[in-house]
Amino acid sequence: MAMSCVPEHNETLSIVEKGWKPFELSQYQGFWLPLKYFSETMACREHFESSKDDVILITTPKSGTTWLKALSFTVLNRTRHDLNNHPLLTRNPHELVPWLDLDLYVDGKIPDLTNLPSPRLFFMHLPYELLPTSIIESNCRIIYLCRNPKDTFVSLWLFLNKYLSEDEAPVPVEEAFELFHRGISLYGPFWEHLLGYWKASLERPERVLFIKYEELKEDPAFHLRRLADFLGCPFSDEEEREGLVEKIERFCSFESLKSLEVNKIGSTRLGGENKNFFRRGVVGDWENHLTEEMIEKLDKLTQQKLEGFGLTFKDAKK
Ligand SMILES: *[C@@H]1O[C@H](CO)[C@@H](O)[C@H](O)[C@H]1NC(C)=O
Repeated sequence: MAMSCVPEHNETLSIVEKGWKPFELSQYQGFWLPLKYFSETMACREHFESSKDDVILITTPKSGTTWLKALSFTVLNRTRHDLNNHPLLTRNPHELVPWLDLDLYVDGKIPDLTNLPSPRLFFMHLPYELLPTSIIESNCRIIYLCRNPKDTFVSLWLFLNKYLSEDEAPVPVEEAFELFHRGISLYGPFWEHLLGYWKASLERPERVLFIKYEELKEDPAFHLRRLADFLGCPFSDEEEREGLVEKIERFCSFESLKSLEVNKIGSTRLGGENKNFFRRGVVGDWENHLTEEMIEKLDKLTQQKLEGFGLTFKDAKK
């Protein structure tokens, strides 16, 4: 059953914002979704049947999705896949962990996901408020990763500009910033996206794990253990003795993934070039792209929106 997309949802879709080339965004229940994949998202929301054993990775765009996919896949599958002969050596992380709505509900068609080996590992960008209700009801595990707003914005802006065709001019940083600041960005508003998962992680810490990119970067081994504990498969004494945590840390590091042939060539099903998913992976690159005024504006807004909830970021220089 294919859902005919936009017209039926007129009542919930409001303005279409063309600012973020190449993705037109449309507002749906307070969040900005890519119009192009609206039928995928709606079909998934309506029809996905979650099981308690599912693991759903959620990120805000450009906050370390590729890394989180590699880490989670490797931790969950470490008894099955030896690091010397591992699927990540020949396949891009985006191939191994499918995008639940965009990869699997293509054109609104409903896939049969019942035969996938358990635990099923999926990824999405949807805000908490828009998750398929079965994901909440099944009480399955959710791992959320986000990053400080300045690096997220810069990374998003540079990334989206790579999708432009040769005859299209890049989106000026001022224009992109204005939209981001107003909350108009892929799956934004950014701050509301964070808060939905932040609150859920405070309410159900055993089922919703909230990770900040800056902290993951600072101590990957700590977070690998945290991830394994959360997933119900803690590292055993023997695994610790053989240094498996550090081995996985190195195996999934930005530098090592980036250097693999598979991640230099080819593209994902949705047309993103694999190499574009590995840019710099550092904290604080915003310094090279944002003006003083932008920094101040973004810091102020972030403080207003998040600090009352106890959510702050170590985002390097100030
Ligand atoms: C583990 O690996 C198998 C085979 O590569 C794959 O089918 C399965 O989805 C993986 N499971 C997880 C949780 O990543």
